[in-house]
Amino acid sequence: MLANKTIVLGITGSIAVYKAADLASRLTQAGARVEVVMTEAATRFVTPLTFRSLTGRRPIDMFDLDSEPGIGHIALAKMADIVVIAPATANIIAKLAAGISDDTLTCTVLATRAPVIIAPAMHTFMFQNPITQDNLAKLRARGFIIVEPACGRLASGGIGQGRLAEIEKIIGTIKQVMGKSDDLAGKCVVVTAGGTQEPIDPVRYIGNRSSGKMGYALAKAARDRGATVTLVTAPTSLPEPAGIEVTHIRTATEMKEAVAKAVSRADVLIMAAAVADYQSKSVAKAKIKKESPSLTLELVRTPDILTEVKGNFLKVGFAAESEDIVANARRKLDKKNLDLIVANDITDPESGFGTDTNKVTIISKDGKTESLPLLSKREVADRILDRVVGLLKR
Ligand code: CTP
Repeated sequence: MLANKTIVLGITGSIAVYKAADLASRLTQAGARVEVVMTEAATRFVTPLTFRSLTGRRPIDMFDLDSEPGIGHIALAKMADIVVIAPATANIIAKLAAGISDDTLTCTVLATRAPVIIAPAMHTFMFQNPITQDNLAKLRARGFIIVEPACGRLASGGIGQGRLAEIEKIIGTIKQVMGKSDDLAGKCVVVTAGGTQEPIDPVRYIGNRSSGKMGYALAKAARDRGATVTLVTAPTSLPEPAGIEVTHIRTATEMKEAVAKAVSRADVLIMAAAVADYQSKSVAKAKIKKESPSLTLELVRTPDILTEVKGNFLKVGFAAESEDIVANARRKLDKKNLDLIVANDITDPESGFGTDTNKVTIISKDGKTESLPLLSKREVADRILDRVVGLLKR
């Protein structure tokens, strides 16, 4: 989705500029035309040559007589699909909040009609200072998008909030903002992910091998196509995606409650989570000791979320099957009254739990069956969403 888009990447004088090199490289690799604008302070940390080498384009400085004629702040402001300032110092934030335009970057931002993303990076004390917070609030109120800095070790040696957000998070925000005009713009999509955990005692639970990767890929793909996404996730080791409202739950019952709440404004519910079918009838208050040679657990059914959650939205289910895949999936589609079901063969080592790839068959209510080749989970997500978009148009 970044292919052939023009991203003006503003870089200011923070020690985090070296991370902007990675950002410039990743955006260029994604097919974007990256026009770098560095402040004078930024050039003291990293030279423009680094960015010219990474983007294949010369960083733009309107006061540089050697730079290409005709490419000044107005041309940049017009050609930008998005402006991203990363890292953004307290100084650039203060200047933008005050409407000061005294270099190529501030002039471009003032002149552009494109969305502007700001990723601050500075010492915690500077970030927390009410002056900086007021400036950020002012910018937010004017429609600037702020990617909150992360907590962690700072260059000064201290620990606190102020580190430039992860590059993944900045790219996620760019995609989210740019996806606003895409085919799921204005739609609300609820996605569930991961394997639920049903407690037995304070330390043990009944779980399953779901990694959450398929659900997270769906949530990110829906976000990138412009949807407002809520992700209801069981515990996973995956990083929280940017630009998505994430609700963390543990059990099937908690997932049902979170989904029931989230679907009140949803157009689509996609249940990619591996929900436990059974839970322990009683949960021991203290850790169960190995006193007897055998132990019997009584299990009772969990709520069936897809069946029980009702409303005026499309329902998409998954069917992880080990035999009679299509027939079993069809049966589930009918039983749970779904619009689409995505069946996968969990006996295939490249498909299903924990892998980065998946081989699925998508079946719709009207019987249309589409078997896809082995694809990355992200590609599978987009193919599922293509079908969802088709159904939403009806
Ligand atoms: N699902 C659900 N609530 C449950 C169990 C499953 O909403 N308690 C959803 C899953 O997220 C999935 C679909 O139902 O989208 C099918 O899940 P699956 O476990 O394959 O089917 P089950 O109905 O549990 O049938 P079985 O385990 O007998 O194959």
